[in-house]
Amino acid sequence: MSAPLLSVQDLGVRYPVRAGLRRAEITALAPTTLELHRGETLAIVGESGSGKTTLGRAMLRLVEPSQGHILFDGTDLCALRPRALRRLRPRLQMVFQDPYGSLNPRQSIGTILGSVLGHVGVPRAERPARARALMADVGLDADALSRRPAAFSGGQRQRIAIARALAAGPELIVADEPISALDVSVQAQVVNLLQDLKRARGLTLAFISHDLGMVAAIADRIAVMYFGQVVELGTAAQVTHAPAHPYTRMLLASQPVPDVARARATIRAAAAAPLADLPSQIAPPAGCPFRSRCPRALGRCATDPPTLGITPQGALAACHNPEPAQGDTTE
Ligand SMILES: Nc1ncnc2c1ncn2[C@@H]1O[C@H](COP(=O)(O)OP(=O)(O)OP(=O)(O)O)[C@@H](O)[C@H]1O
Ligand code: SF4
Ligand SMILES: [Mg+2]
Repeated sequence: MSAPLLSVQDLGVRYPVRAGLRRAEITALAPTTLELHRGETLAIVGESGSGKTTLGRAMLRLVEPSQGHILFDGTDLCALRPRALRRLRPRLQMVFQDPYGSLNPRQSIGTILGSVLGHVGVPRAERPARARALMADVGLDADALSRRPAAFSGGQRQRIAIARALAAGPELIVADEPISALDVSVQAQVVNLLQDLKRARGLTLAFISHDLGMVAAIADRIAVMYFGQVVELGTAAQVTHAPAHPYTRMLLASQPVPDVARARATIRAAAAAPLADLPSQIAPPAGCPFRSRCPRALGRCATDPPTLGITPQGALAACHNPEPAQGDTTE
């Protein structure tokens, strides 16, 4: 595998919150270390509140990390001054969940794309042709450029949001639940568009989703998050066919993964119902945060927080008692 395009080391985010009259802090992202390789799709999955958006935004330094480092193509983003960071920004783009809120309703699509193209130094005379080419790339007619966002459906707006991200000429796109606000009928089209663009342009993609079944069809690797922590990280096959972490197994049981061909054809509505209440983030439990829900908990799970280690399946999991590999009867 090629050198990583992005690597985060011990990246953590804490937020100040109020607990009654007291000031407190929550850990939205526990110190996390992972890499994104050039050209790969890394899916980040987990239930609501598990820290997916925080990780996706922190990776791009769109939220200020409380600790850790972000290396993008060899540059430490945390060490950059605001001006240097702004210069680098076009190479790192984000596509958001809400295609209704993410486009300025007062601007035409041509103006929206033109301002990004201008920002990255495309001469004014070349912008209209580039904007038309971007529309074609995302499967929309060029006459869309004269209209405002209100004229488009949710799926079309998400295509426009993708065109806007592409206009910057990115190498990495973090797509934060880009289909979960869309009708089921257009979800597959938008996912396939992202995958096609990724292949055609050699992009690297971090794809955030609730839906393990859907990401099994598109991801090279999957990071599973629980309570602000990556609890399992492995290839899509390892994570979906031989999960090592009991939480991943529970997620899979609630969202069975069909085979990849079927998953592509039947990408489902994303928002999975939360499985149960999460523990308090203001006063996190000792040991493993998944303990109260875990059928495999051991005595030490109450006291020792697990950290990522190699599993019998060859993936990484933060668990003292991972699920055995298939065919392995020793526990
Ligand atoms: N600006 C903030 N201030 C305080 N707490 C925050 C802030 N942003 C997120 N959080 C908290 O951090 C935790 C992780 O939130 P995050 O939005 O990253 O989760 P998520 O996995 O993306 O959830 P969802 O699936 O609902 O989008 C949650 O408990 C959330 O309430
Ligand atoms: S560390 Fe213990 S409680 Fe946590 S997931 Fe593993 S077995 Fe379950
Ligand atoms: Mg989120």
